[in-house]
Amino acid sequence: MAQVFDRSSNALARASLVLTGVIIIAVGVGLNSLQRSPWVTRQGQRPDQPVAFSHKHHVEGLGLQCQYCHTQVEKAAYAGVPPTKTCINCHAQIWTNAQLLQPVRDSWATGESIRWIRIHDLPDYVYFNHYIHVNKGIGCASCHGRVDEMPLMYQQNSLQMEWCLNCHRNPAVNLRPTSEIYNMAWAGPSSDKPVWCADTTRAAGANSYGPQGQRVPTAQAISCTTKDPSRDNPQIAMLQELDFHPRSMGHTNPGSGTNLDPHATSPDVNATGVPPAEIIPLPVTYKKFTSQVDLGRYLTSQYHIRSANQLSSCEVCHR
Ligand code: HEC
Ligand code: HEC
Ligand code: HEC
Ligand code: HEC
Ligand code: HEC
Repeated sequence: MAQVFDRSSNALARASLVLTGVIIIAVGVGLNSLQRSPWVTRQGQRPDQPVAFSHKHHVEGLGLQCQYCHTQVEKAAYAGVPPTKTCINCHAQIWTNAQLLQPVRDSWATGESIRWIRIHDLPDYVYFNHYIHVNKGIGCASCHGRVDEMPLMYQQNSLQMEWCLNCHRNPAVNLRPTSEIYNMAWAGPSSDKPVWCADTTRAAGANSYGPQGQRVPTAQAISCTTKDPSRDNPQIAMLQELDFHPRSMGHTNPGSGTNLDPHATSPDVNATGVPPAEIIPLPVTYKKFTSQVDLGRYLTSQYHIRSANQLSSCEVCHR
């Protein structure tokens, strides 16, 4: 019987099997990289906004703080985009005839909001909250990049799960004093740019409570400074060499909402918020940091940051 397939077709069959395998792998790799590609994550794209608003001009040029416009960022899940009124505060006087600003004037005249195109947009099944990040020492620039240098806003990071987890597994490298949250150029402490943090272990008001009653240090509670505190006040004790023990920290007295003044003394306060008369006020002591590793470790305990395991468990972001 004549062979239906000659020898060469055997080789062909084998080759096509291999080829199919290669194609499947290629498609897999392709889909995978497509899923990570900027086209899907929208990383780096600058959509056509109704107004060509420049963060570079308004932040770097005019020195406006982020919360001048994004007023909710320290208090709410959403940072929010400012209403037209915020622009009109200035643009009723400045650049009043500019064509660029016509949509702003129209919006003000009609009362209809400017339809900004959302740039960062997580899927609905992901829970995210600005409030907790900002109040636990993650700066805007750690997630949004150098916004002060962006003539047009774009998404700097992928916002994919991997990206979130990368920080949740080791937040210490990104933690900064809450006073530096808006500092776009913050680079962490170094030996020529040290950071001093007040030892707030015994001070009142080092913590307040968040909406669910969880302990959250307020943006003002951790007193760190980039200016040598002993220079203004020689009485301040320095804790340069002191070994601190995270376990012994944090038995602060919550409830009292007083802010910490780095130069104030900090008497112990009892549960009613009234300092007992017999306690002699303690001088505030400072610890000096010259590396991000040490500062990160210290802030991890000060902010009561959860362990890497707890922070990467699914319920944190998928509720
Ligand atoms: C003068 C007001 C103003 C100031 C100050 C300002 N912003 Fe904005 N911001 C806006 C407006 C308006 C938009 C929406 C238009 C756009 O995306 O460019 C916006 C958008 C954003 C977005 C993207 C929102 C989205 O759609 O995903 C981020 C992130 C952001 N701002 C961060 C910052 C940071 C960080 C600072 C401080 C360094 C800052 N902004 C200061 C007005 C301001
Ligand atoms: C604190 C005052 C102030 C506020 C608030 C403000 N602007 Fe401006 N804006 C200015 C000034 C000043 C300039 C001129 C900047 C320059 O030429 O360097 C300007 C310039 C502009 C320009 C011209 C292009 C550019 O960036 O130079 C646009 C568009 C603009 N602003 C939009 C807005 C919008 C939209 C808002 C509200 C979200 C807003 N501005 C809020 C002061 C302000
Ligand atoms: C831990 C990372 C992280 C930090 C820190 C952070 N953001 Fe965001 N930001 C995001 C993510 C993620 C989104 C998208 C949220 C969504 O889609 O629900 C976002 C969205 C925004 C938006 C769009 C409006 C909104 O709320 O969705 C603005 C404006 C904004 N951020 C400003 C800021 C400012 C100002 C700061 C600093 C005070 C800041 N962000 C700090 C991750 C961060
Ligand atoms: C640069 C670091 C960093 C990045 C990036 C980051 N986070 Fe976080 N996140 C933190 C820190 C620090 C905390 C506070 C942990 C604590 O208090 O134990 C936190 C806490 C949270 C919480 C807990 C809120 C609560 O009330 O319990 C959620 C939810 C969360 N992050 C979601 C996200 C999501 C979603 C992303 C990515 C879109 C993200 N985070 C990216 C550092 C980060
Ligand atoms: C720190 C926040 C965070 C944690 C913790 C987290 N996720 Fe996610 N997850 C995200 C974000 C953000 C996305 C959206 C990714 C995107 O838009 O591409 C996501 C997307 C997903 C998706 C959709 C498919 C995909 O990959 O895009 C699945 C499934 C998922 N997560 C499962 C899990 C499981 C299971 C866990 C626990 C092991 C977990 N996640 C823990 C933030 C988180």
